[in-house]
This record gives sequence, C-alpha cells and structure tokens, in this order.
Amino acid sequence: MKYNKPMRIALLGLGTVGYGVYEFLQKRSDMEVACAMSLVVPDGVTCPIVKSIDEILSDESIDTVVEVIGGLHPAYEWVKGALSAGKNVITANKLLIARHYSELVALSKERGVALRCTAAAGGGIPWLTSLKRCAEQEPVIRISGIMNGTTNFILDTMHRTGGSFADALKEAQRLGYAEANPADDLNGADIRRKLVISSNIAYGGVVNEDDVAVEGIEHIQDVDIAAFKRMGRVCKLIAASRKLDGCIAAYIEPSLVPPSMPESAIPDNYNLISLTGQHIGKQSFYGQGAGRYPTAYNVLQDCVDVLGGVDCFYTDRLEPLRVDNSSVERPYYVRTNGVDKWLQARIDKMLDCGIMTKAVSVTEIHAWAKERRKTDSSCFIASLR
Ligand SMILES: NC(=O)c1ccc[n+]([C@@H]2O[C@H](COP(=O)([O-])OP(=O)(O)OC[C@H]3O[C@@H](n4cnc5c(N)ncnc54)[C@H](OP(=O)(O)O)[C@@H]3O)[C@@H](O)[C@H]2O)c1
Repeated sequence: MKYNKPMRIALLGLGTVGYGVYEFLQKRSDMEVACAMSLVVPDGVTCPIVKSIDEILSDESIDTVVEVIGGLHPAYEWVKGALSAGKNVITANKLLIARHYSELVALSKERGVALRCTAAAGGGIPWLTSLKRCAEQEPVIRISGIMNGTTNFILDTMHRTGGSFADALKEAQRLGYAEANPADDLNGADIRRKLVISSNIAYGGVVNEDDVAVEGIEHIQDVDIAAFKRMGRVCKLIAASRKLDGCIAAYIEPSLVPPSMPESAIPDNYNLISLTGQHIGKQSFYGQGAGRYPTAYNVLQDCVDVLGGVDCFYTDRLEPLRVDNSSVERPYYVRTNGVDKWLQARIDKMLDCGIMTKAVSVTEIHAWAKERRKTDSSCFIASLR
C-alpha cells in the first residue's frame, strides 16, 4: 500500500526508545502520532493517551502500531491483535520476534500488512534491511560480529583499564549502557535473539532459539584479560552463524581475536556486524547498537519504508533450520580450578592462569563448560580466532 495521506501511528511505550520515536515524529508532516499507551507519560507529550489496546485496534484511522514497551506480555497479545486488525506493526522487541517468529511472520503475510523490526538487531545500524537486500540477490553464507553494546563496553573497559569485571559493569550501568538487571546481556541471551532473527532472514528459515549454543561473559576475570594481552589478543563476545550442508552452525562465545581482525578495534558500546555473501564476500556494518536516538532512528526508518510501500516482513520463508555446531572446531582458552579427564586429553599448552586446548568442537566444549560449572561456577572459556 502506498500512502497518500499521513501515516497514523499508535505508539505503545514512551520509554527510552518510545520517547525518541515520539520526538522524531513531531518533526514529520507525513506521519503523526494518533495516540500513545504508556504507564508514565513524559513531560511535553501532547498526543492523546489511551488506556486500552482495544481503543487502538478498533480505530480504523490508525494504520500502524509501533511497539516499544518490550518484554513478552502484553507485547505479544498487542502485536498479534494489531496484525489481526490489519495494522502494520513496527517493533524493536527482539525477545518477542525471536520467540514468536513463525506465528507473527505468517500472520502479517496472511493479513497483508508490514511487520518490521530493524531496531531489534543492531539497534541503530541498518543491519536487517541490508541483510535482507543481500539475501534477496545471492546466498548469504555467514554472519558474524559484535551484536551487544553492553558486553563490548565491559570487555573494552577491562582491556583498557586492567580493572575488574564488577567495576566495568558498574561503569556500564552508570553510563546507562547496562540495565539494572544486566543478566540477559551478560549471559548472551540478548545477543542470541539477535542472531536468531538475523539467521532466519539470512538463510530463509526458522532457527529454534534454544538450539543456538551460547557462552556469555559473566565469568570473565581481570586475570583472563591480562593473559589475553600477553597473547596479543582482544576478547570480544562474538555471535556467528554459517550455512552448512543441510543445516547451519550458530553460536555465541567470547572469542580471542587478533589485532588484524576489525572486531578487535571496536570501542565502547559499538557494534560491528558482518555478512558474507557467496559472490560479494564480506560486508560489515558498524555503529551504535543501542541508545534512544540510534534505536528510534531505525524504528523511524521502518515507518518510512512502510510509508514507501513495504507491506511484508523481510522474508516469508518459514522452513525449520537445523543447528549443528559439531563441525566447527577451534582451540579454546579455558580457566578452571582443576583438570578433569576430558580436559587432560585436550591440553595443548599450559598458561599462567589457564589452558589452551587443541582444536575442539563448539558442541563439545560448550557442553563441557556447562557441566564443569556444576563444580567450578567461575569456569571461563574463550575460543581462539
Ligand atoms: N534501549 C535501547 O537502546 C534498545 C535498543 C534496541 C532495542 N530495544 C528494544 O526496544 C524496546 C523498548 O526498550 P526501552 O529501552 O525503550 O524500554 P523502556 O525504557 O523500559 O521503555 C518501555 C516503556 O514501555 C512502558 N510499558 C511497559 N509495559 C507497559 C504496559 N503494559 N502498558 C503501557 N506501557 C508500558 C514502560 O513504562 P514504565 O517505565 O512505567 O514501566 C516504559 O515507558 C524493547 O523491546 C527493547 O529490547 C531497546
């Protein structure tokens, strides 16, 4: 549908991102905030505030719903209701999209409305739209990169200052880069949702979130960073997936990257995400992966795309994608409080405070680390790139 009148938007949420979207929309003549729903209304908001989603769903003058309340409920019910009512939905909610991907994509297709979530992976980076453009023209064979600003800030701070994980986390929270409860950032759950959405669009299918192997950075210590500096490596939390024969590999893990890899130089809370196309090779996208205005910018870009005629999701392919990480092998740095039989058989080199293993598969070492934490809760692993 091409618009010949201003887009009328219902804005669900006036928090960090929502208020940024509201501000951007005040400057537009081709879009208007018809109403908003919010528990707390920031000063300066002049649009009507409605109390019930039903008021929005039954208002035929509203064509687009922007969901920026976050979380699964009531976001799921509200987004489903909006799509069912024939309204375009633009959301920044990676949790919602990763969890209910097939159902929401199928529903938007059935109703012939747009479902866009560019801000859900990459924050302010036009990553999903670029990925979609590439995937339409040629096979994407790999995705990889730094997709979480909070963990990048913490790792970068630890490398720069030599300080502790706790101090770096505190600083991230002081600057607003980490939430009061940062668990989903630190344990990799947040980045996993982004990798799932990206992989679905890249390879044309549906990855089950639980099948993606994940190791976060919550167990990293300053002694690890000191060891990596002596090795001439930089630790980054890398998300990666690649196309294999009949399946994909998909995993997230702390990785020791050499200075020759651009990921090693990514500072503060920035992201660097790359795709590799079969013929075009590698393309990388760098920028702010979070924050009010960068994220609101991508929400606004989605509105502009819908205004320009986009009336679907990035792909409509919904075949299941099997994940198998057993053929991806690398050496790993391991810090643990003892050497068990499995580790003993795989030692390549003893370091001051850790061990370098011979090449082992992602499947094997992720399973080992999870088991090992039952007796050594601070066990930390990082792959050597
Ligand atoms: N912040 C970022 O940089 C960023 C980056 C990429 C993606 N995102 C995604 O964007 C979404 C929003 O994030 P945010 O950082 O803007 O969160 P936020 O600051 O917590 O804002 C959410 C807003 O929604 C309101 N809300 C929550 N439940 C509601 C309900 N049932 N009815 C009405 N209002 C409700 C909240 O009100 P109260 O404050 O009163 O609870 C709050 O104002 C999330 O899905 C997040 O993952 C955020």
